Amino acid sequence: MTEEVQSAVNARRVIEGPKNDLMQVRPVKHAFARDILKTMMANTWFPDEVDLTDDAKQFALGTLSDGEIDAYKKALAFLSNLDGIQLNNLVNNINRHVTSPEINQCLVRQAWDEALHVESYAQMIETIGFDPKEVYWMFETDEILAKKNQHVMSSSLILGKGFSPENFVLAIAANVALEGIYFYNGFLTFYTLARMGKMKGSAKMIKFIQRDEVGHLHLHLNIWNTLRLERPELFTPELIAKVYDLFRHAVNFEADWGKYIIEGGVLGLNDTIQGQFPEYLCDLRLTSMGLDKIYGTENPVPWFDTFSQINDAEQNFFETKVDAYSSGDLQW
Ligand SMILES: [Fe+2]
Ligand SMILES: [Fe+2]
Repeated sequence: MTEEVQSAVNARRVIEGPKNDLMQVRPVKHAFARDILKTMMANTWFPDEVDLTDDAKQFALGTLSDGEIDAYKKALAFLSNLDGIQLNNLVNNINRHVTSPEINQCLVRQAWDEALHVESYAQMIETIGFDPKEVYWMFETDEILAKKNQHVMSSSLILGKGFSPENFVLAIAANVALEGIYFYNGFLTFYTLARMGKMKGSAKMIKFIQRDEVGHLHLHLNIWNTLRLERPELFTPELIAKVYDLFRHAVNFEADWGKYIIEGGVLGLNDTIQGQFPEYLCDLRLTSMGLDKIYGTENPVPWFDTFSQINDAEQNFFETKVDAYSSGDLQW
């Protein structure tokens, strides 16, 4: 490697580094991004590979109770809104401020995954026979969903208000909350139904989606941890306090939403589970970010990891560590 290339790679940073838009991704500086991209590519799938005809039959034949249909539709409404928000956030806000080409690659792939998820929900709506207006625009008639969407948008789209390195760090923390907390009550609803033998095609679709979200979560955790190495001065007590605030809000919104969609108890879920699950997830994410837990709550649905096959997905990303930069004599 010439000295010129070596120094260009050494100068590469997550944000505010040199950038020429030529995507010179070798040699790699941020090796976690290359490893995550490889796993993302290996995870490639397509929504039309998932057969939803049995789900459509179950829905048409009245196999689901009114409460179950209501929980299903509400979960679908929020998830579809959330993936739409995330797709646009990545494309219009996050990626354009990133000055590492290998991380740009990952973020673009993530945006593609979100586009696939948008398509997955569209296929669920269409094949099962829901009114698209009722699902996509549920927030117009559902005040609780509207409030939650609003909160997610204002915390995730913080960069839309103007770039600053601090805002970028907060946007990454918001992404960790989004990928690692917000989606999960929705997933739980579909898995709980499937464990009862209902809407199993939908649960299969959600498993594929969740496998992608695990990759996204790892990407943003790695970006967070790399920023801590590259820009330690940004991680002030004030900023960390804002991150804790953001996570507490995520837990409160998810707990309230989880309780709301089961209306006191449907599918064997109850308010205690819906309250504890986001707390447990929040602690997990904070620990991965090198921060202290807030709640100390155990997982109230231990079957979740096995059923969702999330352990396998985690294993695929297990090798990807923040300090796994490319070998050689790169300097910091
Ligand atoms: Fe997604
Ligand atoms: Fe995602």
